[in-house]
Amino acid sequence: MGAHEEKIRRLRELKALSGLGGGEERIRRQHEQGKLTARERLELLLDKGSFTELDRFVTHRCYDFGMERQRVLGDGVVTGYGTIGGRLVYVYAQDFTTFGGSLSEAHAAKICKIMDLAMKTGAPIIGLTDSGGARIQEGVMSLAGYGEIFLRNTLASGMVPQISIVMGPCAGGAVYSPAITDFIVMVKDTSYMFVTGPEVVRVVTHEDVTFDELGGALVHATESGVAHLAVPTEEDAVFVVQKLLSFLPSNNMEEPPYVTPRDDPLREDAELDEIVPEEPNKPYDMHEVIAHIVDDGDFLEIMPAWAQNIIIGFARLGGHSVGIVANQPAVQAGALDINASVKAARFVRFCDAFNIPLVTLVDVPGFLPGVAQEHGGIIRHGAKLMYAYAEATVPKLTVIIRKAYGGAYIVMSSKHLRGDINLAWPTAEIAVMGPEGAVKIIHRRALEEADDPDAAREQLVQEYRDKFANPYVAASRGYVDAVIEPHETRPRLINALEMLHNKREALPPKKHGNIPL
Ligand code: HXC
Repeated sequence: MGAHEEKIRRLRELKALSGLGGGEERIRRQHEQGKLTARERLELLLDKGSFTELDRFVTHRCYDFGMERQRVLGDGVVTGYGTIGGRLVYVYAQDFTTFGGSLSEAHAAKICKIMDLAMKTGAPIIGLTDSGGARIQEGVMSLAGYGEIFLRNTLASGMVPQISIVMGPCAGGAVYSPAITDFIVMVKDTSYMFVTGPEVVRVVTHEDVTFDELGGALVHATESGVAHLAVPTEEDAVFVVQKLLSFLPSNNMEEPPYVTPRDDPLREDAELDEIVPEEPNKPYDMHEVIAHIVDDGDFLEIMPAWAQNIIIGFARLGGHSVGIVANQPAVQAGALDINASVKAARFVRFCDAFNIPLVTLVDVPGFLPGVAQEHGGIIRHGAKLMYAYAEATVPKLTVIIRKAYGGAYIVMSSKHLRGDINLAWPTAEIAVMGPEGAVKIIHRRALEEADDPDAAREQLVQEYRDKFANPYVAASRGYVDAVIEPHETRPRLINALEMLHNKREALPPKKHGNIPL
C-alpha cells in the first residue's frame, strides 16, 4: 500500500471509530433504554443525506483523573449542518455514550462554533440534548463552556429560531440553554430537566420524588410550563420540530415560508355561525373556531397542556403563516391568569421577532380574580402580555367572538395597542365589566330600595346588556373596524393579512425596553 492509500485508510479508520462514540456496549445500553444515538437522531431529523459534520476529530483537553487515557473522537457531541424541507439548519446532538454526553470545554466549543455559523448565515439552531451536565473532571472549564453557550443563546434570541429537543437527562445549570431557546420539546419517559436532582431535594427539603416526578416531560408540559411540547417518542419529537420549522422563517430578516393553499382563501364556513351558544355564560371549544378558520383546519398548538385557558400556536391563512392567540372559554371561562399571560406574552414576542402576523381570537371575561392571583403577581404578569402586544409591530388582526371585558379587552390586541384590523362578531360584548357585576355597582342604591330586587336587577341587567353587550358602541368609535358574520371570518382575515403584507411600523429608538419580567 502506498503512502497515499495508507493515509486514506487511516482517515476511514478514524471516521469509523468516531462513528461509534462511546463504543458498542454503551450504544446497546442506549438502545435498550428506548433511546437512539446522536447520529441516528440527526439522520431522522435532517433531509436524507444532507448532514455535513464538523469537528469529528475534536477531543477533550483534560489531563486530570486519568482522562488523558480516555479520549473519544468527537468528545460527546455531534455537530454540523444540514437541511430540513430543503432549508438550512444547524444542529448539535449530544452523545450520551461518550462520558454521558457531559459537557467539556471542547464539547462546548463545538456547539459554539455552529451557533456562530448559524448567526452569521441566518439559519435555525436545533439542539438535541442528552447529557449528564458539566463534565465533572474539567471543573470550571466546563462551566465556562456552558457560559459561552448561554451567551450565544441570548445573542441569537430573536435573530434565528432556536429549538431544543430534550431526549435524555438535562440537569443542573445545563437546563438554562434550552430555557433561553424559543421552544423545548421533551420526550416522555426518557427525558428530564431539573436544576437540582431528587438526591439534593431529599436532603434540602425532605421531599421524596423520582426523576420523572421532579422533572419529567409531563411535569414540564403540564405543571411548570418549561416544555412547549411533550411527545411519546423521539420520532414524534423530530416530526413535530420539522412541522414547527415549516411555519418559521430562517431568521428575523426573512418572511415566513408561503405555502400555496389547497384550502380556498374565499371559503366561508357556515358552521362558525352555530358555534357560539345563545346563553352568554355557556362555554364552547375555541379549538373548533380555529379549525374552521385556518387552512385545512391544520393548527400546531404550542403548550397545549399548560394554561389551557389560552390557546397559542401556528397555522396558515391563505398560505401565510400566522401565530394564533385565542382565549379558551371552555377552561376557566377563558379568564386571563398569571400562566396564561406569560404563555401568550412570550409567544407574541416570538411571532413579532420573526415576522409572523398575529391573529387574536377574543372571548375573555377579564383577569382571574382571587387572592392567589393577586399575591402571585397577576399585575406584573398580566402587564407582560399588555407590553408584548403593544410592542409588536407585525400585522395584528383581532376578532372579538364574544366577551371582551375590562383590561382584558385592551390586552387582547385591541385597537388601542395598535391592532391593525379589529373585527367583531355580532355576538361580541365589549364593556368595562359583565352585566351582573356592573349592575350591582352602579345601581346599588336602586336595588336596595326596590320592592322586588330580583325583578329590578333583571331589568337593569337587560338594560345594561342592550346598551353595552354588543359590538356597536366600539364600532361607532372605530375601535372595531367591522362587525362581520361568523362565516365570513376566514376570507376577511386573509383579505386583511394580504392588505397588511407590506406593513412597516417602528418603535421609538432605544436600547431595549424594560418588559415587567
Ligand atoms: C462526567 C459523567 C457525567 C458528568 C455522567 N457521566 N455524568 N462524566 N461528568 N457530569 C458518565 C458516567 O461516569 C458514566 O461513565 C456515563 O457517563 C454514564 O453515566 P451513568 O451514571 O452510568 O448513567 P445513568 O445511570 O443513565 O445516569 C445518568 C445520570 C448520572 C443520572 C445523568 O450519570 C448522573 O447523575 N450524572 C451526574 C449528573 C450531574 O450531577 N451533573 C452535574 C450537574 S451540575 P461510564 O464510563 O461508566 O460509562 C451541572 C452544572 C452545569 O451540570 C452548570 C452550568 C452553568
